[in-house]
Amino acid sequence: MENLNTLFRDHLRERMAWLEKALAANGHDALVVSAGQPFTYFSDDQDAPFNTVPHFRHYCPLTGPHHVLLLKPGAKPTLIRYAPEDFWYEQLPLGTPFWASEFEIIEAPSLDAVWEKVGSPSHAAYIGNETERAATAGLELNPAGLTAYLDWGRSVKTPYEIRCMEEATVLGARGHAAGRKAFHAGASELEIHYAFVQAVGCLDFELAFSSIVALDEKGATLHYENKRSYRSGKVLLLDCGARTLGYASDITRTTPAPGCDPRFKALVDGMERNQLELCGAVKAGLPFGDLHHLSHLKLAALLKENGLIDADPDEAVKLGLTRPFYPHGLGHHLGIQVHDVAGKLAGPDGTMAPPPAEHPYLRTTRTLDVGHVVTIEPGLYFIPMLLRPFRTNEHAGRFNWKLIDELAPNGGIRIEDNVLVTPAGPRNLTREHLPA
Ligand code: GLY
Ligand code: MN
Ligand code: MN
Repeated sequence: MENLNTLFRDHLRERMAWLEKALAANGHDALVVSAGQPFTYFSDDQDAPFNTVPHFRHYCPLTGPHHVLLLKPGAKPTLIRYAPEDFWYEQLPLGTPFWASEFEIIEAPSLDAVWEKVGSPSHAAYIGNETERAATAGLELNPAGLTAYLDWGRSVKTPYEIRCMEEATVLGARGHAAGRKAFHAGASELEIHYAFVQAVGCLDFELAFSSIVALDEKGATLHYENKRSYRSGKVLLLDCGARTLGYASDITRTTPAPGCDPRFKALVDGMERNQLELCGAVKAGLPFGDLHHLSHLKLAALLKENGLIDADPDEAVKLGLTRPFYPHGLGHHLGIQVHDVAGKLAGPDGTMAPPPAEHPYLRTTRTLDVGHVVTIEPGLYFIPMLLRPFRTNEHAGRFNWKLIDELAPNGGIRIEDNVLVTPAGPRNLTREHLPA
């Protein structure tokens, strides 16, 4: 990736300026951030795959556990790099990464050495999970006010972050093309997963999240991760993304095979039209909840056109008839975390804006702003447990149960792109590399 050092330098400068405000607003002089301690399974000597503390990643792309950043306004950021000698696990040398010149780097051969270097900075806050060490150093542990303030700032992506997400999209699009090809060749869920991983060129746990590879009715389990072996599906729902320097892409495509029920294929085509219109409606100043409401109106129209419900869109949404078909939110902010931070904040002071009671799974209630990156992922599923109560309640007569039961073996539809809000309107990062 070109120009990364300049982009990173500007990114770090911007983030340090925001940190200065956040510290001042919360009565701290400095921030200590850990890369984090791995999670060891109970009663075992094995660790879960390691994910760096996102707050650390935000300032520094270095991978691996136990490193610590000392961030103080006006001073060059200090990176205490945990670098033990080790014959059990490979410890890579630092080398000459593009970001190194932005830090004062101190090497520490042990955990004790790392925390000796941290010392006991005064009025310093700590973010991370090495809380015993941080408490001993006299740091204020994970203060909620400071964390909210920092999270709020992270919603607006810098050009460096957008560049990372573009690259994660290139990789994700490559994986999706490979996964779809494998599906058309009759592959099993597991084989499609490995086609994706191989095309991206990473380890499983280095994907943005545990991949969702669902054939047929499995698509109705929103986060189906099992990948049970089974071939020649009629529909593939593939929800999978890649990472670049910690930043994620999160992409879903629903692909019918040539032998798929044409009535289900018509729903997939309708959802594709709806999804593209919703992506096109993304703009600064728009409350995400309004777009979510629009996605229900569009779904209602599609369900009516295709004979699944008997109600006009406004009435259908008012009566809650679309909710059993589409229980999740339209999307979420995307960044280092796939479900990125600050989706339910009302401001940097930590005030919360929870979702409305009728849409409890809406992951962001924010008003969109320039620099936000959100997913737009409307869905339509045949989920037995959600449809069941409607078979006997006062709305039962509004549903075409025969058609629903005939289409249910196809599972569901989700189409998901990642959209950047720009001053000129939406920029669909995903479609630039995966047009359909
Ligand atoms: N991949 C999980 C989601 O789309 O939110
Ligand atoms: Mn998503
Ligand atoms: Mn997804």
